[in-house]
Amino acid sequence: MEIIRSIKGLREAVSAARQRGLSIGLVPTMGALHAGHLSLVARARAENDFVVTSIFVNPTQFNNPEDLRTYPRTEEADTAKLEKAGVDVAFIPDADEIYPEPDTRIFDLGPVAETMEGAMRPGHFNGVAQIVSKLFYYVTPTRAYFGEKDFQQIAVIRRMAELEGFDIEIVDCPICRESDGLAMSSRNVRLTSEQREIAPVIHRTLDSSRDWARDHSLESTKRYVIDTVNSFPHMQTEYFEIADPLTMQPLQEWPSEGETVGCITVYCGDVRLIDNIKYPPKNLSK
Ligand code: PAF
Repeated sequence: MEIIRSIKGLREAVSAARQRGLSIGLVPTMGALHAGHLSLVARARAENDFVVTSIFVNPTQFNNPEDLRTYPRTEEADTAKLEKAGVDVAFIPDADEIYPEPDTRIFDLGPVAETMEGAMRPGHFNGVAQIVSKLFYYVTPTRAYFGEKDFQQIAVIRRMAELEGFDIEIVDCPICRESDGLAMSSRNVRLTSEQREIAPVIHRTLDSSRDWARDHSLESTKRYVIDTVNSFPHMQTEYFEIADPLTMQPLQEWPSEGETVGCITVYCGDVRLIDNIKYPPKNLSK
């Protein structure tokens, strides 16, 4: 595996691969790699001839400086994992390489970026669009891989790709969970052992809400999830919305057809955790 820190070096490696007629898979990450990231890498490895993984803690998508400061950085361990996973190129630039001058681009991401994470973290999705579009321009991958834990992020990236006219297959990959159900996240390492024991209540509650949803209204299902999660120590739900999975618009009632997605953000102490669950179509709800 080659570790590349410059955009020029990345472009050269990728263009050599392309000249050999290879398909290229891109897995963008912010490092602190866990099994969830490695499942994206494994999928990219299985579906492409040449795999690029980027590790870059992108400052423009952090609206909370403390979150940026404390975001885990574990480059040595990360590169060992990527090497073992058979990645061809690990692209690990520093911030000056990516942003030699401030990126002033504002993307017209539309309604998908305005709700939930978009409403709670102003500027976050524009920052995601900035970095992912740069990576798409440098690598022009055949396919790019993203985890469904950040469900709304995938909708935003699809919109950005459409706006910029990228001919790239965006592949969404299922959430990876710890054995107790907690969605894998780089932020989990910041939980105290007591918080870590409680945090799986998020997934347990979302899971049981699928049963609740069968004979309760959407509003009652939201209440059930929020009240249950908040009844545990350290846990404070920031939002829980049940939304249309394409438009990301929160719904007031169960739709007569089609799946819905319940998206939650919970503060466990000061660690912000996110998760989601799909509700099947045509719930028997009132
Ligand atoms: O999901 C993430 O880790 C980041 O938002 C991404 C897509 C790597 C962009 O920085």
